[in-house]
Amino acid sequence: MRPAWCPALLFVWGAGCGETADGAMPEAPGASPPMMVVEPPKTNGDDGMPMGNGQDASLDPDPGPKPDAHSGGQAPEPDASDTPDAAAPEPEIESPPALLSQTGLYADIGSETLADGVVTYRPRFELWSDGAEKRRWFYLPEGTQIDTSDMDKWRFPVGTKAWKEFTRDGVRVETRLVEKTDEGWELIAYIWREDGSDADADDLGMENARGTPHDVPGTTLCNSCHLGQPDRLLGISALQLWHDDGDMTVQSLMAEGRLTNPPAGPPTLPSDPTALNALGGMHANCGSCHTPEHLEVFDKADGLILTLPYGGSTDPTQAPAYMTAVGVAVDNALGDLPERIAAGAPDQSQLFYRMELPPGDEDGMPPTAVELPNTELITAVRTWIEMM
Ligand code: HEC
Ligand code: HEC
Repeated sequence: MRPAWCPALLFVWGAGCGETADGAMPEAPGASPPMMVVEPPKTNGDDGMPMGNGQDASLDPDPGPKPDAHSGGQAPEPDASDTPDAAAPEPEIESPPALLSQTGLYADIGSETLADGVVTYRPRFELWSDGAEKRRWFYLPEGTQIDTSDMDKWRFPVGTKAWKEFTRDGVRVETRLVEKTDEGWELIAYIWREDGSDADADDLGMENARGTPHDVPGTTLCNSCHLGQPDRLLGISALQLWHDDGDMTVQSLMAEGRLTNPPAGPPTLPSDPTALNALGGMHANCGSCHTPEHLEVFDKADGLILTLPYGGSTDPTQAPAYMTAVGVAVDNALGDLPERIAAGAPDQSQLFYRMELPPGDEDGMPPTAVELPNTELITAVRTWIEMM
């Protein structure tokens, strides 16, 4: 059994969790800064404050001055000679804040009134989360723009925030936050209280939270996917927001002058709907890891790219997933299947084999964050491979 705090993915990757910070994964060649820090999430003494920050700061090329003790990093050991200082000023709100109500999502959490400038949105291709219902919100500070000079890698200004709420079997379980601060990115989950009055930050995660089968990931696990984008946000992109569904789309951002380089037109996508279905589904469910940006995974899976670019080709055989998988040999031929994808033959394809393994199997893909099979995507990929 892995220790409770050991993120499943690191365990699966064999990074182990019996180690300390010294057990950090080897850096990918040329990778700078380190792609992932493997260390037990920092325990936070007894003040109940989240400590997600230290970790993310270490991912930032220039994390700037170290935050003080209560915003993460190395909190000093409590000193026996320290006496509580009644005259100390109220601590400022931590980053990330301890309560969801302090993150800027709601003007009034009780009535769920959103704060000014917070908009709802929906990505075109969604991440499967065992059928949980999700709601998403985004905040771009007033007067700022998203740097869209690279349409596949948007860059966001300091102060940007996104939230995603998960409801499972009718129970609102958690709301996740990704926030860009001047010290780097914060990723953390807030677990809802029983009475629904607020939600508490929890950087260690929780299995079967709020009496549901839903597992809340710890901050280390967030990064295992979110490092797939240099600026962390995975579903707020040109590809994902070019549609007519939701308050925020590429078109609405363009109309408001929020993009430094507005795209000249809609994305160029594979014209075949069966291929698009499979490739779009893999973009969301596999592409956060299987991308050159995520050197750690990219190296291990030897250049397998499962993202869909904004300005790609209408010819599905030119899609990165096709080019890096069809007829390409795998390193480790599990199930005696030597090709990543054997054209026309899903059951001879390593990629399909690994998707079909039951969630939780250590060789299954995706390797984390699912307990129920994503049958829609499995069917889409099967149909796509069959028609090749
Ligand atoms: C298995 C990979 C994976 C893990 C683990 C994961 N995420 Fe995400 N997350 C995604 C993908 C893919 C999207 C975009 C698609 C969507 O929203 O359905 C996303 C979207 C989000 C969004 C909306 C903004 C955005 O990036 O598009 C937030 C906020 C978020 N995640 C926070 C977190 C936090 C905080 C954690 C850890 C507590 C976490 N996520 C863990 C893959 C992951
Ligand atoms: C959280 C990150 C992550 C996600 C999400 C993910 N993978 Fe992987 N994948 C890995 C890692 C790490 C490896 C290398 C280790 C291994 O082979 O298990 C890998 C290996 C693979 C391989 C073997 C490649 C080779 O040539 O050896 C295939 C095929 C694959 N993944 C397909 C998928 C598919 C399809 C999805 C989505 C349904 C997916 N992966 C989602 C991390 C991920």
